[in-house]
Amino acid sequence: MLNTNTSFSRKHQIQVPGDKSISHRSVLFSSLATGKSEISGFLEGEDPKNTMKCFSALGVKFTSLGSGRYVVESPGKTKLKSPNHELDFGNAGTGIRLSAGLLAGLPQISATLTGDASLRKRPMARIIDPLSVMGADIVSLSGDGRAPLRVQGKQLSDYSYKSPIASAQIKSALVLAAISSGVTIDYEESELSRDHTENMIRFLGGNIKQISPLRFLLTPPYLFEGKHFVIPGDLSSASFFIVLALCAKGEPTIIQGVGLNPSRIGILTVLQRMGGKIEISNPRSECGEEIGDLVVYPSKLHKIEIEEALIPSIIDEIPILTIAGLFSENGFSIRNAKELRAKESDRISAMISNLEKLGVKTKEYDDGYEFEEVKEISSTSIDTFMDHRIAMSFAILSKLTGVNLELDEVSWVDTSFPGFFEILKNF
Ligand code: S3P
Repeated sequence: MLNTNTSFSRKHQIQVPGDKSISHRSVLFSSLATGKSEISGFLEGEDPKNTMKCFSALGVKFTSLGSGRYVVESPGKTKLKSPNHELDFGNAGTGIRLSAGLLAGLPQISATLTGDASLRKRPMARIIDPLSVMGADIVSLSGDGRAPLRVQGKQLSDYSYKSPIASAQIKSALVLAAISSGVTIDYEESELSRDHTENMIRFLGGNIKQISPLRFLLTPPYLFEGKHFVIPGDLSSASFFIVLALCAKGEPTIIQGVGLNPSRIGILTVLQRMGGKIEISNPRSECGEEIGDLVVYPSKLHKIEIEEALIPSIIDEIPILTIAGLFSENGFSIRNAKELRAKESDRISAMISNLEKLGVKTKEYDDGYEFEEVKEISSTSIDTFMDHRIAMSFAILSKLTGVNLELDEVSWVDTSFPGFFEILKNF
């Protein structure tokens, strides 16, 4: 396994920016609610800021009270208006898919939703098809099931859906469509995907009944009033520094105020099973979400089998988990993760092509990849494929090894983690 030449002579204590998934949802739910809401801990990253801009264009007023703090004044869902320009969601799959669902259920809305070159390559049929069965008028203007999407809002019907993909974006798009149209939805998934949408509905007093761990029934009325949304630090962002702290030597690192939703903590489970010493202190909860501080100790890692049921809860962390795999005894393997091909980049090919450039011999599968124990890596250039998590993963590898890795472009990092390089520099 790779050896680090990074040793921390003092305890580092850091905070990461607000959770991206919850930040998007705070915009959507404060727009659906009538009256004044407040948001604290909002991620000032390009992705949720684009969602906020789109909902401003629909008639919602967002007033900044300082970094991450907003007052939101919504006229209520029935008074949202059609925008007079295309809604541009930038790089954000969550922004476009959840908003498409929400707008599809509002008959007064006519809008075109689009994004950057990476987003326009990502599959949208996964929401277009079930939304159409609910009665939505949503069309891929490129004709290939991708954005731009033209949405003509409609009164939708009650719906019962069993999703073939464990995806919180599909689940949330359909749930938001049901809420905006005031109908019932019975939703079931194959594995539990992140449940921030369900938590926010409960926080707003909505009527959501869990039928089984993977199935719930949501019924109207949806008379949401404005509330104060408090957003925890993003565990996905924290995971870059968790891996840095585990693979370095010396003193432990403390990461404060991180969201620990049980459907997201797979990365902690996997790293702990790999031998990582990670402790949770000061557990608490806010707006229906669990939060805690993490204490991460330098640890000796080894290869484990990662079971299929854990994949949805580690899906965003697989690039940085792969970097931990380079420091693991016996190498690394990830399977059952075909969804990686539908992310900001095809993360299976993006990781493999960069690993090969480092001199790591990798075996590719349709649903993952593996490599044997790695002894050394070479200095090379890294292709980031417009993908923030690919860029941050290799920046951590360079920090840990001291090997110069030239990233082709790093502006994508601002979609989810503004300030990442400043924190990294201070380690
Ligand atoms: C997200 C869901 C996941 C995740 C994405 C954020 C969300 O996508 O990868 O970064 O906020 O709902 P899928 O639902 O497509 O798995």
